Amino acid sequence: MVSPDIRAWEVERRMTDDERFGMLYSLMPIDVRTKQPDPRVPKDAPRGAGYVRGVPRLGVPAVSMTDASLGVTSPPNYRPGDSPTAFPAGVALGATFNPPLARRMGEIIGREARVRGFNVALGGGINLIRDARGGRNFEYISEDPWLSGVMGGETVAGTQTEGVIASLKHVSLNVSETNKFVLDAQIDPAAHRESDLLAFQIAIERGQPGTLMCANNKVNGAYACGNDPILNGVIKNAWGYRGWILSDWRAVHDWDFALTGLDQESGAQLDSLEWFNEPLRDAVAKGTVSRAQISDMVRRMLRSYFAVGIDRWARAPRIDPVADAAATLETARQAIVLLKNEHNLLPLGARWRRIAIIGGHADLGVLSGAGSSQGSPPNGQVIDIPVGGQGGLAAIRREVYFGSSPLKELKKLLPSSDVVYDPGAYPSSAAAVAKASDVAIVFATRHESEGFDAPDLSLPYGQDALIDAVAAANPNTIVVLETGNPVAMPWRQRVKAIVEAWFSGQSGGQAIAEVLTGVVNPSGRLPMTFPRSIEQMPHQRIAGGNVPLGTPTTFWYHEGAEVGYRWFAKMQDTALFAFGFGLSYTSFSYDDFSAAAQGDTTIAANVTVMNTGRSIGADVPQLYLVRAPDGRRQRLLGFERVTLRPGESRRVSLVADPRLLARFDTTERRWRLEAGPYTVALARGADSVVDTRVVQLRDRLFGR
Ligand code: BGC
Repeated sequence: MVSPDIRAWEVERRMTDDERFGMLYSLMPIDVRTKQPDPRVPKDAPRGAGYVRGVPRLGVPAVSMTDASLGVTSPPNYRPGDSPTAFPAGVALGATFNPPLARRMGEIIGREARVRGFNVALGGGINLIRDARGGRNFEYISEDPWLSGVMGGETVAGTQTEGVIASLKHVSLNVSETNKFVLDAQIDPAAHRESDLLAFQIAIERGQPGTLMCANNKVNGAYACGNDPILNGVIKNAWGYRGWILSDWRAVHDWDFALTGLDQESGAQLDSLEWFNEPLRDAVAKGTVSRAQISDMVRRMLRSYFAVGIDRWARAPRIDPVADAAATLETARQAIVLLKNEHNLLPLGARWRRIAIIGGHADLGVLSGAGSSQGSPPNGQVIDIPVGGQGGLAAIRREVYFGSSPLKELKKLLPSSDVVYDPGAYPSSAAAVAKASDVAIVFATRHESEGFDAPDLSLPYGQDALIDAVAAANPNTIVVLETGNPVAMPWRQRVKAIVEAWFSGQSGGQAIAEVLTGVVNPSGRLPMTFPRSIEQMPHQRIAGGNVPLGTPTTFWYHEGAEVGYRWFAKMQDTALFAFGFGLSYTSFSYDDFSAAAQGDTTIAANVTVMNTGRSIGADVPQLYLVRAPDGRRQRLLGFERVTLRPGESRRVSLVADPRLLARFDTTERRWRLEAGPYTVALARGADSVVDTRVVQLRDRLFGR
């Protein structure tokens, strides 16, 4: 078969200018401002986030884009009655530390996009979690470039094997939502390469996404979608990325973004300078922009179309709703993190006569995150509270629960217990119900949304006080958190068990009930650090949070590459719950740990993991760099999730990507490994080192 590059070259050459320029922007089939169909989009095009014209005479398909970070979305009034599979939050996927699950989710997204006629899935949000208040953190994967890069890359690969182009977003530093449209996120360029950009680099290498989405904010002075050093300098030139870069919606401010790396304007109806391509046409006519530049933009799109095969769709894939639902359930199960379990109160057995379930709308469903990634699953959005607020995104801030009720599922699994429900509206009533029960389980929720950040680490609607009251009334209090971010848990000493269930998707209620009752052994690990307080975080205030909405500000990410657990290591501070932490109902031992240089270029380590407890379970041994020749520096180098029966053991081998050991040298524009001793640690989490080894490495410059 002719290579996609050659085909793209040949097809582009035969295009007219109208055809070329017609591909440089997408239109929203339903204009979000008027809520009406845009007459320029063919009536039979599927209603999603964007539509791009094709060139039928040359076999170039039109493009229809759907949001798909956590499953194909179906916003209200787009495709009434359509209910695609809704996965748990991105952080939940991150908590599984299980790349094959990410791939399977990607495949399902690919198939579900395709049967609806979408050939581009806008997913793979892999911005690093830098601030525990970030409103969109739930949609991303983790605070770590290796974990986020691997999981993001696998999701992309899964989607693209189904013949649907996947994107990764949002390059770069879309860390906070407050004021993101005017915020200038500033960072040291080398640190950027070692953190957020490294996540994208790893994911691109692994998944080969056909497209990347640039962010709304500015980075180091220039809008992310008009950012020459990042888009042209790093992504296209240094990394040799061959796909196309499309903008986030509302992220294009000038036609000359085409000169600084942007290939396509998204949701053209929204930009202040509508019709990116008209002024661009004028510029070509005047000779300010070369024709070669326009051809390159178009060729990049065509190359991805042909490489992924959206021009060769044969029969529609077969959808298996039962298998897809099972995949969401499995992800939700593996994502749940057991944070505390005093006196082995969990799992709940048949011995408890009366169990009180309190709050969190647990009688009806599980919470989901809001914004463009929000799903509308087959079991419905059973509660929909328009939360609102200030600014243009207030309408998408909705507190939506999916119809998978933890209460109903618990009743099924605990048939001999009397399971009662209290809504948790009044602490005193809840406490009375708790007092009259043997065990009290509080479901605490915190809605998070695109467009907004949280002011602090508390639970909203007085739920911290509710938990206090319940814990005072019943010594056997368990808290199940449905959050997309860390919370401070001021009541943590007063409750016996804490479970982080995240936004658990369409099957979340079942997964939670199974973990609480021991049908499933918890195995999730935290994909982000839970700080004790905001004072421990690198920033006391959220970026852009100190000025009225819409006021341009700059924000200096002084922590650079020392994000999350890396920051805690640097400050020698202890978190409330560290990155990588998670308990199990069984126990695991580590033996014969060894680490050595591999061909002088990196470090390889081995360890034997054994299940020393009484139930089957999964463990996630982790390898970290903890000291390099230039001093203390913590980096996750590798991880592997292993499922073991009692008494079973397995040898695990981990090889570090050498970029995780190195520093980025901005003068040489290459990675630099300094000669000397590197201390690596085998650990159960970022702060619980089991054993260390020192490995000598030679100096070298490598990569780009
Ligand atoms: C979001 C993107 C999303 C796009 C299209 C924007 O508001 O930031 O992540 O893909 O909308 O819906």
